[in-house]
Amino acid sequence: MRITIIGTGYVGLITGVCFAEMGNQVICLDIDDDKVKKLNGGNIHIYEPGLNIIYSRNRKEGRLHFTSNLADAITKTDIVFLALPTPSKEDGSADISTVLAVSSSLAKLFSEGKKNGDFKYKIVVNKSTVPVGTSARIKEILEEFGLVSGEDFDVASNPEFLREGHAVEDFMRPDRIVIGVSSPKAEKILKEIYNPFVRSGNPIIVMDEKSAEMTKYASNSYLAARITFINEIANLCEQIGANVDHVRYGMGTDRRIGTKFLYPGMGFGGSCFPKDVRALSSMAEQSGYDFQMLNSILNVNRLQRTRILKKMTNYFGENLKDLRIAVWGLAFKANTNDVRESPSHYLIRELVSKGATIIAFDPEALETTKQELGTLIEYAEDQYAALERADALVIATEWNEFRRPDFKKMKKLMINPLIFDGRNLYEPNIISQYGFEYFSMGRPEMSRK
Ligand SMILES: NC(=O)c1ccc[n+]([C@@H]2O[C@H](COP(=O)([O-])OP(=O)(O)OC[C@H]3O[C@@H](n4cnc5c(N)ncnc54)[C@H](O)[C@@H]3O)[C@@H](O)[C@H]2O)c1
Repeated sequence: MRITIIGTGYVGLITGVCFAEMGNQVICLDIDDDKVKKLNGGNIHIYEPGLNIIYSRNRKEGRLHFTSNLADAITKTDIVFLALPTPSKEDGSADISTVLAVSSSLAKLFSEGKKNGDFKYKIVVNKSTVPVGTSARIKEILEEFGLVSGEDFDVASNPEFLREGHAVEDFMRPDRIVIGVSSPKAEKILKEIYNPFVRSGNPIIVMDEKSAEMTKYASNSYLAARITFINEIANLCEQIGANVDHVRYGMGTDRRIGTKFLYPGMGFGGSCFPKDVRALSSMAEQSGYDFQMLNSILNVNRLQRTRILKKMTNYFGENLKDLRIAVWGLAFKANTNDVRESPSHYLIRELVSKGATIIAFDPEALETTKQELGTLIEYAEDQYAALERADALVIATEWNEFRRPDFKKMKKLMINPLIFDGRNLYEPNIISQYGFEYFSMGRPEMSRK
């Protein structure tokens, strides 16, 4: 099968590489020439475990190509996947202008091809997270250019559920694949290309396009709700002297609840959860439904991002001038270089505005952070270098290498052995034995012995 991916970011690149791995001929397009040049030159702009190996293999085998020329990308293709950005607008709704603009460009090229007798049936599959009704809008756009649905093209919705940091693994072995499609022909072809990914029996769930679009928002908002719930439980634990570690274990072992997504922290971030909860809330509002829970999720998450800051100002006072704060972790979560809506970045900006000097380290997200924060902060070459003469350490991302550090070395490097842990990486009683003061989320605080 010949597959085109439009938008070669986190989702598009993983999709392209994984389809190539299954033997398809894949061409990935991006508007960003620089990105395309890098990808053609062997350089990947995102960090994902396992990506480099299959990218290199499929490049070598000649199954994976990159271009910024749309006509070249679609001439011979059977299926076009859209993996384009759908950021939040000011009012919280999803901005689908790129998806619609690219659909128009495709429609124009398809109809020119049809006139020249150089065109065959294609499926346009939307992978971007988009409001309910967007597939229907894409179909209308193609029809406006004289193309006939079911004959020249079909449109399908195929929301993506991969997690950054586990993206290759998730794409290669998904829990399920959701396809919103009404054409039996398109359904058959899409099942064919996805069958190799569900050999272990996980389902390909076929439904109407609107339900598929809704499934993505419902899933992300539900996951955001779980995180928010455990964050509030953690806050209450602090208030009344319980320990959230015990509580979440006690809760999560109930099979109706399960243990996943019950880790308290600094609030959810990233390019998906905040924007998708906002978009679903806005969609509900536009349809005349007051989805109260979503608004609470957003409000609680906003407050949660300030929890560590509050702990710090309780300790140091409001003015953080002359304090040197080390920050471990800049990515919005571990195993990615993505810093979009990162709780770490939010905290850093607040600390800087209160006068603190920040020296930060992240195993993969230093470059992406430099693009955002530039000279606002200092950057350390490794996790220990960040600690030199530090008045406190903040742990903001749960990278594995932060889990078992050399505490003795840390204590020697820091002026003040003080840790604010937004990710609950350490056992409070153990860390206090090393002589640290330790503040974490929803657990008893430990003073130095
Ligand atoms: N990142 C995730 O974990 C994830 C997971 C599931 C779904 N999604 C959804 O998938 C979509 C893409 O997300 P992403 O994280 O891959 O975004 P991204 O910003 O990493 O990638 C989008 C890419 O599209 C390119 N682009 C922008 N305009 C273009 C145009 N007109 N023509 C061609 N290319 C263009 C950009 O240069 C960029 O490389 C979003 O709707 C997102 O909500 C993301």
